[in-house]
Amino acid sequence: MEEPVRFTLVTGASSGIGRAIAVRLSAERNVILHGRDAAKLAETGALCSPGTRRLVWTCDLGSLDGLEASLADLMRTNDAVVDVFIHSAGALTLLPFRIMTRAQMTETMNVNFLSAALITQALLKKANNRKQLRNIIFISSTVSNFGAKAFSLYSASKGALDSLMRCLAVELAPDVRVNSILPGGLRTPMTDKMLADADLAGRMEKDYPLGLGTVDQIAGLASFLVSDESRWITGQQFVIDGGRTINITA
Ligand SMILES: NC(=O)c1ccc[n+]([C@@H]2O[C@H](COP(=O)([O-])OP(=O)(O)OC[C@H]3O[C@@H](n4cnc5c(N)ncnc54)[C@H](OP(=O)(O)O)[C@@H]3O)[C@@H](O)[C@H]2O)c1
Repeated sequence: MEEPVRFTLVTGASSGIGRAIAVRLSAERNVILHGRDAAKLAETGALCSPGTRRLVWTCDLGSLDGLEASLADLMRTNDAVVDVFIHSAGALTLLPFRIMTRAQMTETMNVNFLSAALITQALLKKANNRKQLRNIIFISSTVSNFGAKAFSLYSASKGALDSLMRCLAVELAPDVRVNSILPGGLRTPMTDKMLADADLAGRMEKDYPLGLGTVDQIAGLASFLVSDESRWITGQQFVIDGGRTINITA
């Protein structure tokens, strides 16, 4: 029987951090690019290294119906297995908690948290992935560990992701390593509108001892965490925020 082809699955690969990670890892790995928009995923694909393979998985993670079937079908059709899973897809819903609707809560939890849990489960099933999963990275956020006005659901979804990360790190060891990356503020399509506010951008620049970060810096950390160099690291939250959350300057 022929060996299946190993892939790294990156959700949210159509934009921002997920795109930067997919492009960076494509230098050495075959990558499954996930997002909702095939045209944006094709743009990511064009930036990837030509020497490795690409597959595209379009799936709306706001509704979880059919998620496993759709991923399993893509893998079976292409004789692909997934050894690394990186969940970067995320939705930023900023609203005062008292006016947030149940639909908004469900959408945020589905995209940011439950989809990651269900994809992990799907990849742990022998029938789908032949016991090939070795490494998981969840893209969380520094707000997972802190409080901020209007961030309640977003923060709760990242907190759930980090709690899942720690438990899976214990439950799946030693076969699978599981870690989270907690970025601080970066310029991506997610934050473009927020950072268009010159006052806010100015305050943020001031609060970050190393200034605002870039998606490449997050991709560099992801590259380390999937490499053999990090083989004794699991169950950790990696804060990468230019010193923002340790800065208590008044
Ligand atoms: N930027 C920051 O300052 C920052 C800071 C901390 C943490 N993060 C986290 O980093 C991750 C990436 O964010 P980003 O800044 O790179 O944002 P981005 O450029 O807006 O990318 C978000 C990605 O999530 C995907 N996505 C959103 N809703 C989806 C849905 N319903 N179904 C499937 N995919 C969906 C988008 O796909 P489409 O192209 O289909 O919309 C896109 O690929 C997120 O988890 C975010 O919470 C970002």
